[in-house]
Amino acid sequence: MLVLLHRDYDALSTAAARIVAAFVRRKASLVLGLATGSTTLGMYRELVRMHLDDALDFSKAMTFNLDEYIGLAPEHPRSFHYFMQRNFLSRVNIPQAHIHIPDGTIRNGYEEYCATYEAAIHAAGGIDLQILGIGRDGHIGFNEPASSLGSRTRPKTLSRTTLDDNRRDFSPGEEMPTAAITMGIGTILEARHIVLLASGAAKAKAVAKAIEGPITASVSASALQLHPDVTFLVDEEAAKELAQTDYYRRVMDMTAKLTPGKLW
Ligand code: F6R
Repeated sequence: MLVLLHRDYDALSTAAARIVAAFVRRKASLVLGLATGSTTLGMYRELVRMHLDDALDFSKAMTFNLDEYIGLAPEHPRSFHYFMQRNFLSRVNIPQAHIHIPDGTIRNGYEEYCATYEAAIHAAGGIDLQILGIGRDGHIGFNEPASSLGSRTRPKTLSRTTLDDNRRDFSPGEEMPTAAITMGIGTILEARHIVLLASGAAKAKAVAKAIEGPITASVSASALQLHPDVTFLVDEEAAKELAQTDYYRRVMDMTAKLTPGKLW
């Protein structure tokens, strides 16, 4: 595990975009696993800038999003389809046919649909780089507490914490979905490289549990401790509850010296 501490949200966002850009430049046909959420916005903004100013080319890349609200159609302004198109996908040159986001309008046959989503990831050769955010309850994707650490793509009921947090995206009185289709923790752990972004004091407890706590289904992100190549990008506020920040800084210095380029 590599824990990279960043001054603030902007520094973290730039670092995340540089990682994605380095991967796309290394492998044009990169299979990218993507997340939505406020934390990812700065990264997407910077990637769009790199596409426009630095000719960062996504024409051969393929994307798979982690999740989508059940009940929201792609054109619904609160859907993750809409979020992705508005903030990233429609603003770079990823062919629409290369984009995969779970379908929130499925009414039945979830098992079959989710197996098809997993099969598409497999057919693409697996996810090369998975981007994650983290919920206050430690979720990755929408794998809420008590999700099996081996779980696969499936419908999942949203926790009270997630409902409270995500209510901000909905107008007062507007009905909010209470479930989502999400890649499972087992699905996420199969990605070759994983980068998790965490910003702000509200995430500090979840970040500390994920990185320094025991591996437990009560904190889905703690399962990342089992992954051979995971990088946590954490800003100062989100790092507040970590016990080993001095050590992480020394590892950052050493990594910069031993493997220049590794820290992007
Ligand atoms: C969204 C997703 C979620 C978010 C997490 C953090 O696709 O997978 O796990 O990454 O809820 O959301 P923000 O960044 O809004 O705090």
